[in-house]
Amino acid sequence: MPTISEAIQTAQISQHEAKIILAFILKQSKAYLITNVHQNLTEVEADTFSKLIKRRQAGEPIAYLTGVKEFYGRPFIVSPSVLIPRPESELFIEIIKELSPANPVTSALDIGTGSGCLAITISKEHPGAKVTALDNSQEALKVAQQNNAQLETNVKLLKSDLLEQIPKSTHVDYIVANLPYIDPNDPEIMPQVAEYEPSEALYSNQNGLAHYAKLFNQIKAKSISFNYVLCEVGHKQQEAMTALIQKTFAKTPTWRYDLSGKPRICILNK
Ligand SMILES: C[S@@+](CC[C@H](N)C(=O)[O-])C[C@H]1O[C@@H](n2cnc3c(N)ncnc32)[C@H](O)[C@@H]1O
Repeated sequence: MPTISEAIQTAQISQHEAKIILAFILKQSKAYLITNVHQNLTEVEADTFSKLIKRRQAGEPIAYLTGVKEFYGRPFIVSPSVLIPRPESELFIEIIKELSPANPVTSALDIGTGSGCLAITISKEHPGAKVTALDNSQEALKVAQQNNAQLETNVKLLKSDLLEQIPKSTHVDYIVANLPYIDPNDPEIMPQVAEYEPSEALYSNQNGLAHYAKLFNQIKAKSISFNYVLCEVGHKQQEAMTALIQKTFAKTPTWRYDLSGKPRICILNK
């Protein structure tokens, strides 16, 4: 059987990824691999390693192979039922941190929670806040509940078509939404994303903004009051999203940009 070092050298994927996969199989840290390069793998470990390497070579995201993805410094369980949390969505947490000294987070709603990464991180960073997370996918909610348990938060999880299950005239300090926003006709979607991530988490009609249009109509129709609504969209949707918000709320949102300078999250103030 190969040693740790031989397995990594011959994996035919990047050494970085090979180490992540091997550390996951051995239930050890990457540092362990470095200090135990001469350890032989067992037959089962070698077999599992070669199967996972083949799946990675075929394009499957590494987070689905290991079942975990870090978000804002914490490990989140993921499965193919949920979108893999993206580093650019950490901007939600940064924005709320900036706004919260003047506008404390006593309550928050996360719409389309997926793995629960936004709701659970808000709960962790703002202890005492009453956080509710909604998704219409029962499978996604199961994953969010696993994260709620393993990260020891008390987020309330609800199956709901956007805000349908939220009573009329509810007040919530912060509404966050990272809803599906990819136009189904967008040719730019990465093949690995399209092939492996759940389509219900990705696509939305009306040039990608149908979910947000419906959400905004629900906020108005149900007289939901808020201090801030924060929504993530794609970099080509700034103009259309601004127009949608202006049309629905007669207000102009401000925008925040991701690390590559692209408009990413819009902020609607009450
Ligand atoms: C882009 S993913 C975002 C997941 C997570 N918030 C994140 O940032 O990683 C969108 C999520 O919205 C959910 N979703 C799609 N349509 C929905 C609807 N009508 N009502 C509630 N959730 C919905 C999907 O199941 C998916 O989990």
